[in-house]
Amino acid sequence: MQDLNNINTVATLFEGERNFIANASNLSSFIIHTIPNLNWAGFYFVDGDELILGPFNGKPACIRIVLGNGVCGTAANNRETIVVENVHAFPGHIACDAASQSEIVIPIVHEGILYGVFDIDSPILNRFSDAEREYLENCVSALVRSSDIRKLSLYYSIDTNQK
Ligand code: SME
Repeated sequence: MQDLNNINTVATLFEGERNFIANASNLSSFIIHTIPNLNWAGFYFVDGDELILGPFNGKPACIRIVLGNGVCGTAANNRETIVVENVHAFPGHIACDAASQSEIVIPIVHEGILYGVFDIDSPILNRFSDAEREYLENCVSALVRSSDIRKLSLYYSIDTNQK
């Protein structure tokens, strides 16, 4: 097993393990400990017509978000990353941690199936640059590539026939 105190790349983080929940847990911890000025990083998974809270680092958060609601539900429905410079200016933003000022939400899609989102919050405005957006999207791609994401549908209500 790798030395978890000396992880410096996401690829190393997932070495030798394909369990999606375990790898997602470590990714949320890795992100919050390696990128400055973040207060929350975590996952929501599709469960029917809602998103339900998954592994995260940060304060306890909203458990269920209806698809289409908030930044998470909107990014999930659109299947596109949303970068919010100021959460107070985003209509319908759901405030889980009052400290959050800016946010990025990356949808998790594999082979046409929407599995959930990766949500990251910052206590400062306009925190996420284009370069960080690309980096974080690459982290999500690495997680999906390195893990058995399809097994999530054994536990959550995910429509695996969607196209
Ligand atoms: N702000 C999100 C809700 C999740 S928390 O930030 C952890 C939203 O508007 O969907």
